[in-house]
Amino acid sequence: MHSLSGRDFLDIDAFTREELLLILDTARQLKLETRRGYFPRYLENKALGLLFDQPSTRTRISFELGMQQLGGYALYLKPGEIHLGKKESIPDTARVLSRYLDAIMIRWNDYAEMKELAEAAEVPVINGMTEVNHPCQALADVLTIMERFGALEGLKVAFFGDRTQPANSLGALCSKLGMTFVHCAPSRYAIDPQWAGIFRRNCERSGGAFIQTEDITEATEGTHVVYTDVWWWIGQEGEEAERRRAFAPYQVNEALIGSCDRNVIFEHCLPASRGLEVTDGVMDGPHSVIFDQAENRMHTEKALLVLLLS
Ligand code: CP
Repeated sequence: MHSLSGRDFLDIDAFTREELLLILDTARQLKLETRRGYFPRYLENKALGLLFDQPSTRTRISFELGMQQLGGYALYLKPGEIHLGKKESIPDTARVLSRYLDAIMIRWNDYAEMKELAEAAEVPVINGMTEVNHPCQALADVLTIMERFGALEGLKVAFFGDRTQPANSLGALCSKLGMTFVHCAPSRYAIDPQWAGIFRRNCERSGGAFIQTEDITEATEGTHVVYTDVWWWIGQEGEEAERRRAFAPYQVNEALIGSCDRNVIFEHCLPASRGLEVTDGVMDGPHSVIFDQAENRMHTEKALLVLLLS
């Protein structure tokens, strides 16, 4: 039995470099098998619950179909459909779900509530995004980078714009794996000090680097991966005008891509606001790998399920 069996997947930082590489290597193998039309039933008759408090396209579909491809069942529980945290305490719901399910995937805005659920659950819990992190997205992002560049060492990844959940998780994963991670934004939108501390601590061990900068030239010089995300999120709509002004110079456009390494790739977790954080020309251009990333959500999540449930 390997070290991932029975564990939760809530934070990148709870896993070692070797464990994270095992997940990524397993995802590569599963993707190869899928491409060859080979679908081994690694999780025959296992059941996965999918709990959401927000709408989702990629997370919902990739987990649901991934589990079916592995021979198991997935139960989609949409926002407001179960008592979780309302008519029933979170720990009670967690214990009940553990009697029916073999694993729980939860997209939940409140990280502390997700942790409460995971602590009470007797089955593995997977974080499908909270208000602070999106570790499943980071796995797909880095698998896509591996596919394009092979080795990760020496690669520079620059994230432009708001310090969103994918930024926190990608920074944690890049710093674990010895890469250079740059966040480029106005200083008042810099990565939260708690996350920056995690990145720096990881870099000391891995030999990677973390750079926080407002300077677009510093961020694009020799950069292999450009990433961006939306400029405001649920609950930040009132800040729209201010955020548009602040982030406009950091838009990922053809000129920005042109000042990076010639083999640069463009990533976005999606959904994107075309014309705001990124132009159509970049989204649909030759450097874009956004749909590979979306596909890789399924392969990396299948790997996680196989490793956590086996
Ligand atoms: N990137 C991502 O998590 O997409 P969804 O919100 O569609 O799940």
